[in-house]
Amino acid sequence: MITFDKFFAGSTPVVASAPGRVNLLGEHTDYNDGFVLPIATPMRTTVAVAPSRDDAHYFYSEEMDDQVILPRRGRLASGYGRYIEGCIRVLEQLGHEIPPLRIFVRSSVPVGSGLSSSAALEVATLRALRTHLGLALDDVQIAQLARNAEVAYAGVQCGIMDQMASSLCDETHMLFLDTRSLDTRVLSLPAHAEVLVMDSGVARTLAGSKYNERRAECDAAAAALGASSLRDVTDVAALAQLEEPLRRRARHVITENARVVRAAEGVDAAQFGRLMNESHASLRDDYEVSIPELDTLCEMLRAAPGVYGARLTGAGFGGACVALCAPGSAAGAGALVLEQYNAAGHKGELLMPAATQHGGSL
Ligand code: GLA
Repeated sequence: MITFDKFFAGSTPVVASAPGRVNLLGEHTDYNDGFVLPIATPMRTTVAVAPSRDDAHYFYSEEMDDQVILPRRGRLASGYGRYIEGCIRVLEQLGHEIPPLRIFVRSSVPVGSGLSSSAALEVATLRALRTHLGLALDDVQIAQLARNAEVAYAGVQCGIMDQMASSLCDETHMLFLDTRSLDTRVLSLPAHAEVLVMDSGVARTLAGSKYNERRAECDAAAAALGASSLRDVTDVAALAQLEEPLRRRARHVITENARVVRAAEGVDAAQFGRLMNESHASLRDDYEVSIPELDTLCEMLRAAPGVYGARLTGAGFGGACVALCAPGSAAGAGALVLEQYNAAGHKGELLMPAATQHGGSL
């Protein structure tokens, strides 16, 4: 274990942080130019940056107790360091001179739960580099650079939602994001509602999942319909000409976009919960990114007192479920469902409301 003080002995680092995100509605719509509705998690990733003492970059993750050395012109093969490397390299590609750095990471965003630990790391790194190097970058540019870093250096063809959410969301408002124009609107949660997030205990690895395959299916569906993206298809009847599974994939995207737009118009908590339930059914049946554990968890959550609705959140194939609950009922519903779910042999975990103060501060 390398302590913060030992890592930075002799220098005072610049510190910045960024949150994870929970997507409330709008799943697998961002790479189709569609709409999403995420909120920030109280769990955050904090990054501290200072000059290196030699010609290499040094990264240290406290959670993983792992130090990575990146030669100034080198390339990492795997691990969390690739996200940081990606941030450095995208800035270099813009013409910025990045001196050798020491970068220390502390995070309370769980890895593999679908709460975007990678986006939190990228955005926190870019924020720290912005301050350390005096770069003139706004929050949308930070999100775009973070996404470029993930695509080019972590090998995931992700959309822009996670990085925009980490860069622009707060913990008490939903961010309505048009992923085509990057226009945003900050919206209040439905009145009288609290967010509950529970991890299924089944980790998902995005790069190895069917994520890129779904993306290709959407592109194929859009091309077959003569549209530049599925965002431009709003009539489900037009899908009749598509073959399966493209028809179901496109139907998910179109109905999911409509659910986000409906929710953003302002619905009450009960209606919002119903939209979440419909979203899960669509992700399970049409998009086929759910797994039995996530279906079970959602059913248990819906049956708990005070829960308006529940769905998987993030890419799927494991990770977490999100539920909308009546005020004051999320902790109780969470505890009840956790007991039932884990009694069936699973290793679930209640992530929100958080039992402990999350900050990951340095
Ligand atoms: C991952 C990606 C996002 C988005 C979601 C699914 O989190 O990083 O861009 O596509 O999956 O909604």
